[in-house]
Amino acid sequence: MQTASCAPASRLLARRLDELAGVTDEPGKLTRTFLSPAMRQANALVGKWMRAAGLAVREDALGNLIGRAEGPGPGSPTLLLGSHLDTVRDAGRFDGALGVLLPIVALDELRRRGVTLPYAVEVLGFSEEEGVRFSSAYLGSKGYAGKLRASDLARRDANGITVGEAIKGHGGLRAQAKRGTGFQPVLSTNTGKGARATSHPSPLLGYFEVHIEQGPVLEAEKLAVGVVSAIAGQTRGRLTFRGRAGHAGTTPMQLRRDALAGAAELILFAEELARRRPPLVATVGSLAVAPGVPNVIPGEVVLSLDVRHPRDAARRAALRRLLAQARAIARRRKLGCAWQVTQDDGAVACAPRLATVLIRSVRAVQGRSLRLPSGAGHDAIVMAGLAPVAMLFVRCRGGLSHHPDEFASRADLEVALRVTLDFLERLGAGALRP
Ligand code: HGY
Ligand code: MN
Ligand code: MN
Repeated sequence: MQTASCAPASRLLARRLDELAGVTDEPGKLTRTFLSPAMRQANALVGKWMRAAGLAVREDALGNLIGRAEGPGPGSPTLLLGSHLDTVRDAGRFDGALGVLLPIVALDELRRRGVTLPYAVEVLGFSEEEGVRFSSAYLGSKGYAGKLRASDLARRDANGITVGEAIKGHGGLRAQAKRGTGFQPVLSTNTGKGARATSHPSPLLGYFEVHIEQGPVLEAEKLAVGVVSAIAGQTRGRLTFRGRAGHAGTTPMQLRRDALAGAAELILFAEELARRRPPLVATVGSLAVAPGVPNVIPGEVVLSLDVRHPRDAARRAALRRLLAQARAIARRRKLGCAWQVTQDDGAVACAPRLATVLIRSVRAVQGRSLRLPSGAGHDAIVMAGLAPVAMLFVRCRGGLSHHPDEFASRADLEVALRVTLDFLERLGAGALRP
């Protein structure tokens, strides 16, 4: 197998990550959100690199960038590789981008070495994973996997634009009809739970995603890469407290119905509950206060709640407890209280057979292989409905992510590249054959 050095390829990968990090909607920081101008620019730049690597490039109705290399014959199975090209606000340059750019460099490296894979490959740059614009994650991979629902299309952004309108504005559905080639994302209108994923036009070997760990484990273990065992489930939603706005100077404290004070109680309760029930995590990441001026008692507050746990039953129990506490706070403070789920994804275990092959590749390159769970969500959660999934984590400094100082060293990028090359070849040599 190919575990030879690929330092030049890893330097090219590092340069491209830096270049892509300059494509942003917010000058001075890295922010690329669903179907934004920066996303169009990113697709053009990454599409150029895909074409240079010999891939046929298209964009689907959701703005997902797809680079495909055919296999030896019409019935060849396809291996999907990818991650997301959108980012959080003021993001780091590795989250998502690494999992799209690394496979492109790896395929080019195999071509340079004269290696032809006996299967087709699709490199996927998903257009929306973070859920920044519509508070609902994975719109890109859900569109690709045919798991978008009517309720997803109806979600509105801060300007009142729905997902469906954003897609049409992007020229998505009409343009899709024009393009007409390859796998069309089915905008399923299933409203039931677990909408059936669309079957892919070719048999799938699996979905492989390389991603920075976004946590401290590999650094503590002094390992460059690790194999993901499972991805935690997560529930996101909006909790609204409604009180009564009033004059900050003339309203006695005992007569107030202060929505922000009630929200503050819930925020501290959520932190305390998660502290008491590790590895549960609960986060209030955004807070909207109305009317939001210094001399008016807050009449309404909308807070975001993000709850995660590797075990779904534990996550659901924690959410029930949080909502019961929110209602108790509201009763005591004579507030209204409303909860709206914006995302609910169960935990996903990575496919054992694919992980076994990946572990062999990690051992061949790194010597030791460690399996670790992912607290972060990934497109692999959605793609698991379409194909067996495997993920490779890359060490990131201080476990820091969703932050401009997010960093993975070039040496670790080279290890991840060498593992990926070995993994691609093992699959080609029949590692998955029963
Ligand atoms: O929030 C997450 O877990 C991921 O970064 N989308
Ligand atoms: Mn992220
Ligand atoms: Mn990510």
